[in-house]
Amino acid sequence: MSEQARFRSFEESTHAEWALIDARFREYQSDACRRVLEHLGRLKGDHHGYPVDRYEHCLQTATRALRAGADEEMVVCALLHDIGDDLAPANHAEIAAGILEPFIDPLNTWMIRHHELFQGYHYREFFGQDRHAREAHAGHPAYERTVRFCDEWDQTSFDPEYDTLPLEHFIPMLERVMARAPFGGLPDLVPEPELETEMEPELEKGMARQAGAR
Ligand SMILES: [Fe+2]
Repeated sequence: MSEQARFRSFEESTHAEWALIDARFREYQSDACRRVLEHLGRLKGDHHGYPVDRYEHCLQTATRALRAGADEEMVVCALLHDIGDDLAPANHAEIAAGILEPFIDPLNTWMIRHHELFQGYHYREFFGQDRHAREAHAGHPAYERTVRFCDEWDQTSFDPEYDTLPLEHFIPMLERVMARAPFGGLPDLVPEPELETEMEPELEKGMARQAGAR
């Protein structure tokens, strides 16, 4: 089999082609952590007027979470929570939530997704908005953790003098989280003989229909 599928549409695709693509996808998926880290590095230098750049802010948030005794998954959330700042400045939380969602507790995904609103408690009044808007989510099972994330680690992480840990410290943590089976596992390709057996009754039915139509 060549290194690339030859179909022009999925309708034409074969089991062998999907086996090739499936193997390639798994390889690509397992390397996603490296690409995420590469992207995080792109936040270096752009401070957007803040006292520290977004890279330092992410590392500092993760450092504070770690030093406060947060578990590894929470530290990883802190590390990536603003990674979407360059690609989706108006909707950045969705990027980090999307990257980590397949590997983490849904409550932590919710936390990342809502952190901007919760963080707003500390600045929304400067924009004529209600700083208490997050209270609309009071009672949500991730409410308390999101408040803590923002109040103790995120909104405090703009200190240029803080003793922030380097990225290397967090890489093994991110690698462990992203090495988990996404969404609990990818669907496996059905072995070809099994696929044929399953297809047979359908084919027979189709042939019978055709014969009947003649
Ligand atoms: Fe942040």
